[in-house]
Amino acid sequence: MDKLVIHGGTRLKGEVIISGAKNAAVAIIPATLLIDGICTISNIPAISDVKISCKILQELGAKLTWNTPNEVTIDTRNITCANAPIDMTSKFRASYYLIGSLLGRCKSAVVGLPGGCNLGARPIDQHIKGFEALGANVEVSQGKITATAKKLVGTSIYLDMVSVGATINIMLASVLAQGTTIIENAAKEPHIVDVANFLNAMGADIRGAGTDVIKINGVEKLVGNTSYSVVPDQIEAGTFMLAAVATKGDLLIKNCIPEHLDCLTAKILEMGANVEYNDDSIHVFANKRPNKANIKTMPYPGFPTDLQPQIGVCLALANGTSIINEGIWDSRFQYTAELNKMGANITAQGKSAIFEGVKELYGAPVEATDLRAGAALIIAGIVAKGETSITNLVHIDRGYENIEEKFRGIGANIQRVVDEEI
Ligand code: EPZ
Repeated sequence: MDKLVIHGGTRLKGEVIISGAKNAAVAIIPATLLIDGICTISNIPAISDVKISCKILQELGAKLTWNTPNEVTIDTRNITCANAPIDMTSKFRASYYLIGSLLGRCKSAVVGLPGGCNLGARPIDQHIKGFEALGANVEVSQGKITATAKKLVGTSIYLDMVSVGATINIMLASVLAQGTTIIENAAKEPHIVDVANFLNAMGADIRGAGTDVIKINGVEKLVGNTSYSVVPDQIEAGTFMLAAVATKGDLLIKNCIPEHLDCLTAKILEMGANVEYNDDSIHVFANKRPNKANIKTMPYPGFPTDLQPQIGVCLALANGTSIINEGIWDSRFQYTAELNKMGANITAQGKSAIFEGVKELYGAPVEATDLRAGAALIIAGIVAKGETSITNLVHIDRGYENIEEKFRGIGANIQRVVDEEI
């Protein structure tokens, strides 16, 4: 197995280019199953969640041609079946989008229950509520979800809680339904807008994505025959912004949409670092220890839960005591035990954690417990004195493209090595 070895004490400096958004790409790829045609998608991040999504599409009869490592042409005119292989769908979270897409296209879907980061309970009752409201019969048994419908008829669906996955999945299931579907209390993340823009480019009629009410007028078919570029990844951009703060560095983060990071920017300014917006890049620079700050993670446009571990590294080093309240997931503080091995002083209890800022961190062998925790540990290793090794890279590779090359390009001393012992 591989591990990352980092020699820390570095202030990151330079330019980094952000890839396409993981959480948009893993929805757009299964969404192509709704198209009776051919489409080309570019700015796709080369990450393992994308690779496995594409493998599943091929299993279902789609033909994929990779024009570059980040651009693929997908022909979904001859989908042969609606049964997604269970052993593959359990490897990541976004496999649940296969249900909405196959149900929409074939009026039938058999999909293995999703996997993904271990953040506590991750139910999909709101997805099922939406499918049933549209007229599907849904059964969950023996590790798989079976959804069938004679026809899908548009209706109003009020989500019990703001859910990115349920919002997108109901959008997927309703674009070819008869009549109009209205999703209320919808999530507003940039990747939801991106999926709606993609579907509209393919012939769908979706309005209001990015607000809490999304209206989908069902159409006969999606014809495709066009191309689409995935939105830049605001979570990857935020990860590098926070790396600049933690290391008192100076980074120009290119190919991003600054407005997607307004909440993080406000918090970084509160912590005493500097942020400048350009059209498609953000300049972040810091020359002193971060001020303490309190964080509550919320649905967009609130503070993103997917940047919580990364800002946790900054708060572990801040001047004073900070508190993070995790508003989305039951268990997203597993990374704090790893940071404490590096000299941090964090007490996590349920959905809250108290960060007593320390002056410095020391390198140590640590383990990535989930995708964003892994990114946080890389930042911690770069700022810590001495050597840090990070194992369980499978989590990091699910969501970050060429992560060690990108960090090396801005000055980090980081190598991926094969570890015979693990
Ligand atoms: C998406 O997960 C992202 N994953 C997560 O990113 C992200 O943390 C999350 O949205 C919140 O922004 C992908 O897009 C693939 P939710 P998702 O449905 O869709 C509860 C990363 O690091 N809920 O918005 O699974 C749920 O338990 C990953 O990139 C229900 O109760 O999240 C949670 O408390 C980690 N029932 C809250 O809603 C449901 O049917 C929000 O979940 C659905 C959700």
